[in-house]
Amino acid sequence: MLINASTVTASEPIKIGFVVKQPEEPWFQDEWKFAEIAAKEKGFTLVKIAAQSGEKVMSAIDNLSAQKAQGFVICTPDVKLGPGIVAKAKADGLKMMTVDDRLVDGAGKPIESVPYMGISASNIGKQVGESIASEAKRRGWDLKEVGAINVSFDQLPTSHDRTASAAEALVAAGLPRANVINAPEAKTDTENAFNAANIALTKNPQFKHWVAFGLNDEAVLGAVRAAEGRGINTQNMIGVGVGGSDSALNEFKKPAPTGFFGTVIISPKRHGQETSELVYEWIKTGKEPPLLTLTSGALATRADANQVREKLGLTAAK
Ligand code: GLA
Repeated sequence: MLINASTVTASEPIKIGFVVKQPEEPWFQDEWKFAEIAAKEKGFTLVKIAAQSGEKVMSAIDNLSAQKAQGFVICTPDVKLGPGIVAKAKADGLKMMTVDDRLVDGAGKPIESVPYMGISASNIGKQVGESIASEAKRRGWDLKEVGAINVSFDQLPTSHDRTASAAEALVAAGLPRANVINAPEAKTDTENAFNAANIALTKNPQFKHWVAFGLNDEAVLGAVRAAEGRGINTQNMIGVGVGGSDSALNEFKKPAPTGFFGTVIISPKRHGQETSELVYEWIKTGKEPPLLTLTSGALATRADANQVREKLGLTAAK
């Protein structure tokens, strides 16, 4: 009998993996929570897997195949693993959709044949830069006296695009380009961002005020903490992150405002629930997800984070 491997028979239970690069980060926990909502609503089994290295990604895919999953969503720990991941998924007969970080080929070009949902990185970076600039102006700062910490992670294209656009927006608002201090982080977490920002601060004692931006909330929190360590507090720091998960929300819950001024809230609902649903439909009906979906973000500060989250439908998974 000929079996069409691309769709499943009605009786076969559907099982979908959701592989993430950094399980301890609240953003990824939120993605998983929303993926669970999709699993409950659609009636499939969700397998959550943490894969912090290429080796773990490869064994995760084999593992999913061994337990008869038909597909998975993945945010890879390294986009350069692209061709290897594509080959492995194909060899194991699994449908794959990528989320957050888009796979690249050997030449560093996006692998466009794999369905991907990510944030519109340049637009969101621009929103970050513009909101920092407008708050600096509101405070009456002379932008010549402002140092801007760019907590960068340029090997990840979505990070490069976010931070480059934030820097551009600040320069367009009048910040001298030389005031943008590159602070490359070795890993994308708060500790590494803290270390990177500390070096930037030490080397640049000439500035009166500081602002900070980066790939995500963790990057900006690292910079804010480093500044606090040097006595640069709320009045002299404007940090705006990207994310809007617990890292940012906990900061807003502190009794007094900190240098973490705001965040552009993005949607773990779309990235977790919608991607899982798309893979589910793909398995069930053979309908492939769109190859490229870019989601938007909304700026939130301490004053309105809860309302913005509610508007984006993000309170369901809490
Ligand atoms: C990257 C970052 C995460 C999050 C997602 C959003 O994966 O590492 O912190 O910002 O993008 O797509």
